[in-house]
Amino acid sequence: MKHLLKLLDWSKEEILETLDLADKLKAEKKAGIKHHILEGKTLGMIFEKSSTRTRVSFEVGMFDLGGAALFLSSKDLQIGRGEPVEDTARVLSRFLDGIMIRTFDQEEVESLAKYGSIPIINGLTDFCHPCQVLADLQTIREYKGSLEGKKLCYIGDGNNMANSLIVGGIKTGMSVAIACPKEYQPDAEIMKWAKENGDFICTDNILEAAKGSDVLYTDVWASMGQEGEAEERKKIFKDYQINDSVVEVSNEGVMVLHCLPAHRGEEITAKVLEEHASEIFDEAENRLHAQKAVLVKCMAD
Ligand code: CP
Ligand code: NVA
Repeated sequence: MKHLLKLLDWSKEEILETLDLADKLKAEKKAGIKHHILEGKTLGMIFEKSSTRTRVSFEVGMFDLGGAALFLSSKDLQIGRGEPVEDTARVLSRFLDGIMIRTFDQEEVESLAKYGSIPIINGLTDFCHPCQVLADLQTIREYKGSLEGKKLCYIGDGNNMANSLIVGGIKTGMSVAIACPKEYQPDAEIMKWAKENGDFICTDNILEAAKGSDVLYTDVWASMGQEGEAEERKKIFKDYQINDSVVEVSNEGVMVLHCLPAHRGEEITAKVLEEHASEIFDEAENRLHAQKAVLVKCMAD
């Protein structure tokens, strides 16, 4: 059974095969070619947090592949009233062919996979966001031609995006630099793994991290679930912004990416966002193509 619980579980070859498939599905969609790969199959999409891109890309993705998708809000499910994930997993496995879940605790996603008997796809937890990073890698390849040897610099909170970018970047041969405040570094185990497996640094020196970058990336200072810390975080993260000075020290032709939603004037200036809108919205579009590739990998027979 193939799950996507976190990128650490997937090999470099599996990641690259998924990116190749995403490129193929994208070209076929543009050419108007229809698919029946997941005909008769249903994906349940459990959301315990808000979403625009993830929900719509998975729903449209299932439709494009000939299957169906069910939006299941935790507000309405019994899981929201305390039904254990072990039971939910076993019940939903009797009805569905796959589950995509967006939640808080990574353990919940791992438990769904442990107790259920259908593929589980992680649509974001506090720990990671693997689907987003597959779309990001697809976009970087489109603009830069390849991933190997390119420098990716992430500026901001050492959150779910940072964790997944480190793993996706290092696994595909990129050099990864993270700039964040000392108390907000990415997951310690992931940083240890990255140092052992590739070219990785984490520093609080923004310009040092950004120097010579081919890709600059940022994300919100306060993630979903941290709304209560937003004001305090604005003070802590005020310098951790993609702006002209950061772009200046990067390589000529640097790409700027953002998983979105963005807060202009906080983690990125409105000017840089608009100057790099083509790659940022190609990145958002690629959620659809990358998600379809994940669905085929996990759910096709
Ligand atoms: N980037 C991303 O996952 O967006 P949504 O929260 O809108 O799904
Ligand atoms: N770090 C953000 C990513 C949103 C796609 C969050 O978890 O809210």
